[in-house]
Amino acid sequence: MQISSIKNKADTQLELFDIGDNASKKTQNNNSTFQDPSFSYNKIQPVHRWVPWIAGFSSNFVQDILTKYIKHKGVVLDPFSGVGTTLVEAILLGHQAIGFEINPYAALACRAKLNAYKVAYQELETEITRFEVFYHERANGDYTPQSTAPQGFKTRSAFYSPKVLRKVLITWDFINTITEPAIQELFRLSFAATMVKYSNYSYEPSLGRRVSAGKSEIHDYPVGQAILDKLTDMLKDIYWLQQKLPQQPSAKVYNDSFFNYSEYLTPESVDLVITSPPYLNNYHYNRNTRPQLYWLQYATQPKDLKSLERSNFGKYWQTVREKEHLELKFTLPNTDLEERLQILRQLKPEKGVYGGNGWANYAATYFNDCYTFAKAINYILKPNSTALVVIGNSILQGIMIPTDYYFGKIAESIGLELVNIETPRATRVGNSIIQSDVRVVKAKKSHHLYEAIVELRKSATS
Ligand SMILES: C[S@@+](CC[C@H](N)C(=O)[O-])C[C@H]1O[C@@H](n2cnc3c(N)ncnc32)[C@H](O)[C@@H]1O
Repeated sequence: MQISSIKNKADTQLELFDIGDNASKKTQNNNSTFQDPSFSYNKIQPVHRWVPWIAGFSSNFVQDILTKYIKHKGVVLDPFSGVGTTLVEAILLGHQAIGFEINPYAALACRAKLNAYKVAYQELETEITRFEVFYHERANGDYTPQSTAPQGFKTRSAFYSPKVLRKVLITWDFINTITEPAIQELFRLSFAATMVKYSNYSYEPSLGRRVSAGKSEIHDYPVGQAILDKLTDMLKDIYWLQQKLPQQPSAKVYNDSFFNYSEYLTPESVDLVITSPPYLNNYHYNRNTRPQLYWLQYATQPKDLKSLERSNFGKYWQTVREKEHLELKFTLPNTDLEERLQILRQLKPEKGVYGGNGWANYAATYFNDCYTFAKAINYILKPNSTALVVIGNSILQGIMIPTDYYFGKIAESIGLELVNIETPRATRVGNSIIQSDVRVVKAKKSHHLYEAIVELRKSATS
């Protein structure tokens, strides 16, 4: 059979499944009961505005869910915490928050936010003033910084111009004088959250050279001011948080893979899961945070990123594309998942690792992790409790992969109830293979990216 005709068959089949099963449960954005989960609103919200994060949640989306789903105080888990939107909202409403985040930079952001309640406000203010004086005296004189740029952080062109680099190193000279660990963490975070802004790289949304995106290089920049502005926001937000918290929070974030959950969590101990795992769009969290990981000394050489890659939810296309044939490790009756992956696998064999087989390996690995994740939810949820999972669909080599639908079916197959799939964001701007240079088949016009909320429930008796 010709590949093109198989492809059309897959599209028709999907429609069949949508109409027969999924579509009846799926509500389009206008009448969704959930708010738009996207991060943009967070950029102006106290505490949430500290660190931008791709595919982060909006705080009011999380707030709404917490109010709707937990009547009393409970344990809220975010297995893929990112920069901690769920965790912060949970403690603000007096719940116990538990998070897992594999990326040490994002985990630092979570920790700094969750520990903000005990930061000595006056001491932070004093350190900010001390930084202002320290920086100005040195930046305007002929001072030679003691700090050095991380050796292992290699880029195609200079990450910082010489003038900017000198200012960055003066900042690090100051950070190294701070003796109070919690305050030093906030300074480190303020640098990491702003550091790309004054570099010759930018997020588009993947990290690339500014010149490649048609932007001019940055020869000089008021680095100290950018960091002071960030610290001033943090100071204000810490005051706000300390007034707002109903009680001393109980919160913990593990800088580890959630797949090690059984080492940390007991069965049936969680009242609500709110999360968004990485999407099947190959957004490479580790590569995109290389500047922060190296400058914060979480990585000193490329092999330090390898273990992160291997443990990342869904791995990455780059890590599995060369494998001969990676299979699903489970069966999913009454769906076309296997067939769809098979169709993908047969596309463009002449393209070698860039052809369909590599992408099918990636998708199979992703769904295997969805399976492990669903089992984990079943293990940690208390009976009668809910998990809300925000997940984006994907278009691989022109083939639409409705991850929300398949994930819902996977969860059902291991004994969770699939309550609903809603789509509050029917169009999503973001990186996907649809926009990648490596695609070999053009996506159909009718295919679009969306974000869905999969609502799962653990029954009263398990
Ligand atoms: C879509 S983001 C979550 C964003 C989050 N909702 C927020 O508002 O900040 C997914 C996160 O999962 C993390 N991640 C990927 N694999 C993981 C794993 N195995 N265990 C824990 N975290 C993981 C990534 O580093 C990324 O920060």
